[in-house]
Amino acid sequence: METPYQNHIAKADFDHVYEPAEDSFLLIDALERDLDFLKAKNPTFCLEVGSGSGVVITALGMALPNAFCISTDINFKACEMTKTTAKYNKVLMDSVNMDLAVSFVNNKFDVILFNPPYVVTETSECGTCDITASWAGGDKGREVTDRLLDMIPKKLAQDGIFYLLLIEENIPNEVVEIMAKFGYKSQLIVSRKLRNEQQLVMKFFK
Ligand SMILES: C[S@@+](CC[C@H](N)C(=O)[O-])C[C@H]1O[C@@H](n2cnc3c(N)ncnc32)[C@H](O)[C@@H]1O
Repeated sequence: METPYQNHIAKADFDHVYEPAEDSFLLIDALERDLDFLKAKNPTFCLEVGSGSGVVITALGMALPNAFCISTDINFKACEMTKTTAKYNKVLMDSVNMDLAVSFVNNKFDVILFNPPYVVTETSECGTCDITASWAGGDKGREVTDRLLDMIPKKLAQDGIFYLLLIEENIPNEVVEIMAKFGYKSQLIVSRKLRNEQQLVMKFFK
């Protein structure tokens, strides 16, 4: 998969929006490994929750030109940046300033992506709308992720796929159990140790 053009973004803009890092590229790597499967599914609506700069959902949009891409972010500046990244790379996209996917009432997405704020922090650090929201994950680094897990059965199409980036501290087995209770199978797509952090991307599907 091609890496989207991002030279239009000034370095200082990343004081306010998450700068693409190894986790962003691991999620792109996971999508690339699954690209034949995704192309065969021919998804219509793809959603990235928490799109930051927009690098991940734009890469997916470039690889799946028939799909309509939508992104959300709690950080308004991230939504603006995602829109410009999509535009520069000629990807049709809408980016909405929203908490997770709460305002999509009747929409079902064929693909949902999430690289969440996964760092273990105090609960009080969670729930901001600024750059802190990029990393502060609260208890087990899972407070934001767990809220999205609860929404997946309502937001994902019956044969949809959900890709989620986690680190070991998030206790991936517990996530697998939560999703199993909702009726989803799971599969580890890729895992990489980076300095002291084990990052992985899991896929959930019926
Ligand atoms: C680790 S960053 C990932 C950014 C981008 N997807 C990437 O991979 O480079 C997490 C993103 O989730 C957003 N976020 C955090 N809490 C959110 C929430 N409740 N609803 C929507 N977006 C949220 C943050 O603002 C941030 O842009």
